[in-house]
Amino acid sequence: MKKNQGRENSPKKLWAGRFSQALDPLVESFTASIPYDIRLLPYDIAGSLAHVKMLARQGILSVKNSRLIQKGLREILEEWSRGGLTFTLADEDVHLFVEKRLTAGIGPVGGQLHTGRSRNDQVALDLRLFMRDQINTLRQDLKTLQQNILAIARKHEGVVLPGYTHLQRAQPVLLAHHLLAYVEMFCRDQERLAEIWNRVNVLPLGSAALAGTTFPIDRLWVARELGFRTISANSMDAVSDRDFVLEFLSAGAILMMHFSRLAEELVLWSGSEFNFVAIEDAFCTGSSIMPQKKNPDVAELIRGKTGRVYGNLMAALTLMKGLPLTYNRDLQEDKEPVFDTVDTLLPSTRLLARMLPRIVFKAQVMKKATAQGHLLATDLADYLVGKGLDFRNAHRVVGEIVASALKNEKELLQIPLALLQQFSPVFDQDVFQWLDLETALARRNTPGGTAPGQVRMALKNMEKKLCRPDYPF
Ligand code: ARG
Repeated sequence: MKKNQGRENSPKKLWAGRFSQALDPLVESFTASIPYDIRLLPYDIAGSLAHVKMLARQGILSVKNSRLIQKGLREILEEWSRGGLTFTLADEDVHLFVEKRLTAGIGPVGGQLHTGRSRNDQVALDLRLFMRDQINTLRQDLKTLQQNILAIARKHEGVVLPGYTHLQRAQPVLLAHHLLAYVEMFCRDQERLAEIWNRVNVLPLGSAALAGTTFPIDRLWVARELGFRTISANSMDAVSDRDFVLEFLSAGAILMMHFSRLAEELVLWSGSEFNFVAIEDAFCTGSSIMPQKKNPDVAELIRGKTGRVYGNLMAALTLMKGLPLTYNRDLQEDKEPVFDTVDTLLPSTRLLARMLPRIVFKAQVMKKATAQGHLLATDLADYLVGKGLDFRNAHRVVGEIVASALKNEKELLQIPLALLQQFSPVFDQDVFQWLDLETALARRNTPGGTAPGQVRMALKNMEKKLCRPDYPF
């Protein structure tokens, strides 16, 4: 049998020395990762540049050949930036593609690049470099979103709306307080991403296939050259570890869940049942049949896309379960979930940051809603406690008052004193001042509460935090 027969259409693979048969064409398309891992090309080249410089420093390669390889790599990067590079499935993955282009460009000396490394440590390096960049971008964009929400909260400092539990009107709160709740969530997301970034920022290169290499490489130099905080301690762990992927996908799922909750409130609030906000036309679309419709699609799709981000985490967790040490080809499946989560999170963050400042918050509608639904019933019970009743008793008395108010379609403030006194003799004229919305809000003066003074302080603290030039790093 002719060696590599049937390879007329598919050029011989770089690894095909020990093979006597061509790949089945279905296998080629099934195993190729290049259609998606091509986006790692700039990182692959950055890693190779550091590697080949180190090889020359260590006398493993001649300085001349190292320079030639560096020039060849830079040319590939330039061609890629110009959009001038095309690949086929036969190129298999980004690593083999770059090496093939390199050898085509500078000749057989390109074959020296792979000295002392393996695709196993190379792919882990590429993914870590990619994720370092993406997490940085995400954190900057998230900071912008946080700042924008903070500015909206400031602008609407006096606006009151019903706070809800069980999606039932519960107690009045300041809109700024409600909005700051999201900024707090995003602060925790920032912290999670910062920690993950630190664990991504470890150099796996130099682990080679699984056991290290026989060449006298200098891993610390490469780590410094590529801006890594440290080097991985165990070569077998380094080529098979994807904890950093799982952590990112998990933090991404939590962040997307936060986006989804915010999106859900926008969907609810923009509907005519709530009518608390108006979303700008630029962020809505119409209906193909109902001419009156203006749908909050961006918010709905952020909510909807949360599903795929959860799915990416599940896919990666399931991928890792049961993998024996060390590298297994299964690991090639780690990249698409990462890419998809990044490609969903970044536009979602940016869209929210653009859409929110252009939303109209309808202060009058919100205020009117706080006047309906007995939102100050808790305050009325607290009033009775102030007059000497125990809270359980006070709760029962106010429950009876609310039942009667509901029957007569009245709000608490509309009940005359004489009637209140039928439920409890301790009611006095001062109860009406007590039930005033402003005084009721001001009473919630515990740290973290919605009293205007507390919210003003919370706004100031958050502003100080977000304005630090080094936030979120
Ligand atoms: N495309 C592969 C991946 O993404 C690169 C590493 C391949 N290593 C190997 N020994 N076949 O995981």
